[in-house]
Amino acid sequence: MSNLAVVGVQWGDEGKGKIVDLLADRFDIVARYGGGHNAGHTVKVGDRKFILQLIPCGILRPGKQAVIGNGVVLDPAALQKEIASLREAGVSVDGRLFVSNRAHLVFPYHRMMEKAGEMGVRLGTTSRGIGPTYEDKMGRRGIRVADLFDPESFREQIRLAVREKNLLAKALNSTDSLSEAQVEEEYAGYVEMLRPLAVDSAAFLAREMKQGSKLLCEGAQATMLDIDHGTYPYVTSSSTTVGGVCTGLGIPPAAVGMVLGVSKAYCTRVGGGPFASEAHGPEGDELRTRGKEFGAVTGRPRRCGWFDLPVMRYAKAINGIESVVITKLDVLDHVARIPVCTGYRYKGSLLQEMPATARELEKVEAVYETRPGWCSPTEGLTSFEQLPQKAHDYLKYLSDTAEVEIGLVSTGPERAQTLWVPGTRLAREFGG
Ligand code: GDP
Ligand code: IMO
Ligand code: MG
Repeated sequence: MSNLAVVGVQWGDEGKGKIVDLLADRFDIVARYGGGHNAGHTVKVGDRKFILQLIPCGILRPGKQAVIGNGVVLDPAALQKEIASLREAGVSVDGRLFVSNRAHLVFPYHRMMEKAGEMGVRLGTTSRGIGPTYEDKMGRRGIRVADLFDPESFREQIRLAVREKNLLAKALNSTDSLSEAQVEEEYAGYVEMLRPLAVDSAAFLAREMKQGSKLLCEGAQATMLDIDHGTYPYVTSSSTTVGGVCTGLGIPPAAVGMVLGVSKAYCTRVGGGPFASEAHGPEGDELRTRGKEFGAVTGRPRRCGWFDLPVMRYAKAINGIESVVITKLDVLDHVARIPVCTGYRYKGSLLQEMPATARELEKVEAVYETRPGWCSPTEGLTSFEQLPQKAHDYLKYLSDTAEVEIGLVSTGPERAQTLWVPGTRLAREFGG
């Protein structure tokens, strides 16, 4: 059995949390390689529901280790809250949760800057300070977990940063400003929480893998939100695709193992930006209601539409996806005729490649093929044979046209509401 990297195919919220939780019992370590508490990964086990933002979903499996890699931007207040709510639910993170000493810290001034600038609103960000934190990282003025443990230089770093951000906020006509002493005091309070968690996560993972531990990499966000490959500028600020696994964890490409894409049986996006196969009006509303398409963390309604084959093919190419999980098949149980976007028409011709600019993408016309729906319940089905013939046909159509195997299908939010597709590589390697 190899390591496995789980990546989102579309614009996030595909059900990565559910799938990582399901697969976690086959691995020793689950690691997050990017993003921050802009993510919301839902896991349902029986009548218990967890929404994890920073901590890898593997933490819910007793005995598994969870690693927050250097590619993640870490808000210690969010981490503290998450640890506390897990504890309250009877899940202990002690001795099992590790945080990279190279992960960049999110500060209150990052949220202040996001609010002060106009981009946050235009893009429809999660307002968690994620973009400004990655900006500081790339601008080489970020403050990392390891810096917290050197009080003197940490104080100096904070003072400089708060002073600079206050000036910038003022220049942007913001009335917000922060006190250096307050930020300093707040962050000094996180030292004791972070000290036992902090490790050189690249060295930790290398050591563990050498001893035979198996690694499951938990992607956050998704391909179309990737800073390089997504629908720029309507993206997040991190490398959400498979390249981010290597840089965000410090592991070599050969250690990534198999790449698994997670995609809904239809498509959603939250926030601004082009979405060619968006269904406006009652069709979109019905998908939202049946799919309970509201943000796991922000509660924002998600925009809904149809499966987009160009996105699937693009995600496959960028990530080298070898197998796909189709989630939320049950949400289509009532749709008699299911449109599938097969291509984009732009200025009269069919595009062969994903357009580079959001302006072009906003103007493409989605070309659809309509597939027959199955109009019978699939919710909770656990074996491939139980699926109605037309659901088989729909999955086969997606798999054939995208030229990628579908190895797993999700038929409900709970861990058990899943079925393996017999004969696929994914089922052979991880289905046992
Ligand atoms: P993530 O960010 O990719 O982990 O996904 P989210 O947790 O943000 O959103 C996925 C939502 O769909 C959650 O509410 C899940 O409980 C739910 N979900 C996952 N798989 C299925 C499924 O197969 N069917 C249904 N009906 N809901 C699902
Ligand atoms: P998971 O891991 C869906 C979107 C935001 C916004 C854009 C930029 O749960 O799939 P940011 O705050 O990151 O600067 O916002 O990215 N976004 C997500 N959408 N799922 C997510 O994560 C997202 N993380 C960020 O809505 O459009
Ligand atoms: Mg989510």
